Amino acid sequence: GLRFALVAALEEELRTLLAALQSPVTEHHAGRAFHRGRLDGHEVVLVRSGIGKVAAATTALLLADRYGVDALVFTGVAGALQPAASIGDVVVARELLQHDMDASPLFPRHEVPLTGRSRFPTDADLSDALARAARDALEAERIGLDSSFAALGIDRPRVHEGLVVSGDRFVATSLERTALRTELPDALAVEMEGAAVAQVCLDCDLPFAVLRTLSDCADDSAHVDFGRFVAEVAGPLGAAIVRTWLRR
Ligand code: ADE
Repeated sequence: GLRFALVAALEEELRTLLAALQSPVTEHHAGRAFHRGRLDGHEVVLVRSGIGKVAAATTALLLADRYGVDALVFTGVAGALQPAASIGDVVVARELLQHDMDASPLFPRHEVPLTGRSRFPTDADLSDALARAARDALEAERIGLDSSFAALGIDRPRVHEGLVVSGDRFVATSLERTALRTELPDALAVEMEGAAVAQVCLDCDLPFAVLRTLSDCADDSAHVDFGRFVAEVAGPLGAAIVRTWLRR
């Protein structure tokens, strides 16, 4: 069978999957703990990348090169950038862009120099499968997470697919949110790792996908919503979606 890498930036985002890992063996590389084992009938490697583009890129390269995984799925939280995207909704990235990349006037704004691109596509089949799993899991998980959803005022979570933007900044002011929305009107969500993973995975020919639960609206109250949401909703929901996908 295929060997999958399951990656998250934060401990809370990985905890539920780690607890379900069978026959775990832990190895350390570059200051990270790589947990090999079996999950829902598949050989997997679970690892916490740490926060930001460099941490994510380092981790992705180790998974591609040292572990030779067949596909990589990055899960975690993101800030919502569209009015139609609410806290608790799930986003499956179809394209990723580094919103803080700017080598202008030498290269167009957001273009990764010498690659000729600013938008990096995710693997279509893997993203299809995760989006389907997300829709199915949200139906089923509503029962399990209903009280958490209700406590946080979350009504009916939905699944969105499209552009996710990444940068080495936690976006936590309305001013910055507006600037991002003006520059990149189709961006669904902002986070700090996905586009870096995309760049490495395309270099390494490694199929990958990025699955995010919206934890905040990347505005002045972003920090308030964030902590509680990650532990109570995003971790368990992300794990439920990934496991729904693995069981297929
Ligand atoms: N991850 C979750 N929320 C975020 C935000 N507002 N900015 C950057 N990364 C995030």
